[in-house]
Amino acid sequence: MNVSPAVDIDGLVKRYGHTTAVDGLSVRFPAGAVTAVLGPNGAGKTTTVEICEGLRRADSGRVRVLGRDPLRDGAVLRPRVGVMLQEGAGFYPGARAIDMLTHLARLHRTPLDADQLIERLGLRQSAGTPLRRLSGGQRQRVALAAALIGRPELVFLDEPTAGLDPHVRRATWDLISELRSDGVTVVLTTHLIDEAEQLADHVVIIDAGRLAVEGSPQELTAGVGDGVITFGGPPRLDLSSLRAALPETAEVREVTPGGYQVTASVDPHLLATLTSWCATHDILAEGLQVGRRSLEDIYLEATGRAR
Ligand SMILES: Nc1ncnc2c1ncn2[C@@H]1O[C@H](COP(=O)(O)OP(=O)(O)OP(=O)(O)O)[C@@H](O)[C@H]1O
Ligand SMILES: [Mg+2]
Repeated sequence: MNVSPAVDIDGLVKRYGHTTAVDGLSVRFPAGAVTAVLGPNGAGKTTTVEICEGLRRADSGRVRVLGRDPLRDGAVLRPRVGVMLQEGAGFYPGARAIDMLTHLARLHRTPLDADQLIERLGLRQSAGTPLRRLSGGQRQRVALAAALIGRPELVFLDEPTAGLDPHVRRATWDLISELRSDGVTVVLTTHLIDEAEQLADHVVIIDAGRLAVEGSPQELTAGVGDGVITFGGPPRLDLSSLRAALPETAEVREVTPGGYQVTASVDPHLLATLTSWCATHDILAEGLQVGRRSLEDIYLEATGRAR
């Protein structure tokens, strides 16, 4: 992407005792776009974003957020950057959402309207309840509201929709899309591939503290040799003659009984070879479909957990 980055991470390393949580990570998050950071549990996502938020100190490497050093320039960055911690952590448990949001709003020059935000996130019923008595999902919504109330230019959301019910998840997605339309830079971590597909302009997959792959969802799923053809036929077909007819790089598998999948660089010739093989063997390739590999396939491969 050809936009100057809102976040620039170069050679970032963070250790906790013998654990290396972030292991020389270099990556940029583009300005005015939504970046989804994916990766297995313990990959170093939270550690990375919390270093960007100025909440943790790196062991080495260089991090710039809106051109500033998040630790040294915290006072300058705080009004410009919204933060939602994982599981909505970090609030005084006795406070009520309405009071906290009203208080936060006062700290900013052009805040959003606390009441409207409460309405938007379905928090009307819980706004007057101490945070410690809210459900996990309600607390998380309050945390999201707190991250957004100051109308930040850049917002870090650590698993914003984890554990939310489907309606609230949709509402949150809508809110994030609106932020994007307003030119806000959003960096979100998630385990939900469909969330990344729906929202992200840019996807960053990290594994064991390092960058595995990055790109737009389209770029990631459109690589050479990344086509998939699926079709149905009788179970346990002998696929050896099909393998012989297709290019060597093509993979043919029976993924479910009677469900076949060809992974290859798909072109019209390959498709013709396949259908002609089917005709020779009297197979009506039911539900034949030509598609791309999914972002989930890319993720599983990038993080070493491909089937
Ligand atoms: N405060 C800490 N003290 C010691 N080790 C830590 C601390 N915080 C994180 N770690 C370790 O650092 C590694 C990366 O953790 P991190 O929370 O950044 O992962 P994550 O990618 O956010 O995972 P998840 O998807 O589960 O949220 C893990 O091995 C974790 O155990
Ligand atoms: Mg995390």
